[in-house]
Amino acid sequence: MAFCLSFIFYASLMASVSPVSATDSVIPAERICKPGPPLKPSPGKMNCLVIGDSISIGYTPRVAQLLGDGYQVQHAPWGQRYGGALDSKYGLQCLRIFLKTVMLEPTEYDVIIFNFGMHDIHWNGRRPEEYTAPVDYAENLNAITSILLSTGAKLGYVLTTPVPYNVTLNNRVKQYNSIAGHVMKQYTTVATADLYTRVIDVCGDPPYVSCSIADTQPSPHYTTQGYHYLSERIKDLILDLTVDIDENLPSWKRHESLWIADKYSVPCENKSGKVVTMCPYNTTCCDDLVSNTGQGCCLVPKAVPCGDGMHCCPAGYECDPGCSIPKCSCRKMNDSLETEN
Ligand SMILES: *[C@@H]1O[C@H](CO)[C@@H](O)[C@H](O)[C@H]1NC(C)=O
Ligand SMILES: *[C@@H]1O[C@H](CO)[C@@H](O)[C@H](O)[C@H]1NC(C)=O
Ligand SMILES: *[C@@H]1O[C@H](CO)[C@@H](O)[C@H](O)[C@H]1NC(C)=O
Ligand SMILES: *[C@@H]1O[C@H](CO)[C@@H](O)[C@H](O)[C@H]1NC(C)=O
Repeated sequence: MAFCLSFIFYASLMASVSPVSATDSVIPAERICKPGPPLKPSPGKMNCLVIGDSISIGYTPRVAQLLGDGYQVQHAPWGQRYGGALDSKYGLQCLRIFLKTVMLEPTEYDVIIFNFGMHDIHWNGRRPEEYTAPVDYAENLNAITSILLSTGAKLGYVLTTPVPYNVTLNNRVKQYNSIAGHVMKQYTTVATADLYTRVIDVCGDPPYVSCSIADTQPSPHYTTQGYHYLSERIKDLILDLTVDIDENLPSWKRHESLWIADKYSVPCENKSGKVVTMCPYNTTCCDDLVSNTGQGCCLVPKAVPCGDGMHCCPAGYECDPGCSIPKCSCRKMNDSLETEN
């Protein structure tokens, strides 16, 4: 059973990695995966993981506080800035990292809460690599959901919150939420929380220039009070999902464990030579601007980091000298034999 689950898990992730054709001379750079959360499952507690962007980063600590001692609630990825789990392409690509701890220790989550959308719709218009077409969004959400289900965790999906300052973008949020709703309907065990409506109930329909719970416009973010308001709903979602879990069974008995660091894992050291993150076999440690350890994993062997702390290129390619956080590509290196001729 463990093998079977691992195989499906692995195979679906492999399928999501776009193959590099030998004939492409310029390809988009890979995005470095930020690491998973710091803590191993806590034996006596309900272990919960929240996967999402800056908005879930905003409400997760408050959800943990509301649920109290019986729950361990962590966010993946582990890094406070630049949008967390970003868009669904990035989420799918990095999911096997997000589901482990930062040191690739085994994890068994009772509940996983997840959301993708704000970055898929390209909310700030500044990072083209994040935009995900509707058909791809649906496919990615499907793939992500089946992988998360294969961990044995109970799942809660969270609908994307509004874009207050731009009706065109907000209409895209509504369209993507409707797609996500259809995807989740196929999975009868996945619960859904509608944070979109929860915000509209207070702020009204976009566009709005100010709202008591919303950050100063233009922004998709919330005030401290706003994050508290959102966290109440996520707390209820987690309570609903854990109501029939038998707390007397330790979590390692409730679930299969899918990935663990082994002798093939790649240790990533920080500047003082201390191992602070582990990356899976066949991947490369890279300086990561956002990771709380300063390290992340590029999901190709012998990768070249691009120096912006976000991107990397496969072996045989070099990073475009103009690489920056918003945009980065890789150029095939000229074969040295060819250039000598
Ligand atoms: C709203 O977003 C769309 C899509 O990114 C953009 O084309 C448009 O200029 C934006 N409108 C305003 C008023 O900012
Ligand atoms: C490396 O990690 C260790 C342990 O987390 C920490 O004490 C040390 O300050 C780190 N060094 C640097 C240069 O960040
Ligand atoms: C490791 O990466 C190489 C090159 O991308 C690939 O050919 C090989 O199949 C990979 N091995 C595994 C176990 O994924
Ligand atoms: C490879 O060689 C071609 C022609 O000699 C040159 O135009 C191109 O810039 C070179 N590319 C790289 C990545 O060095």
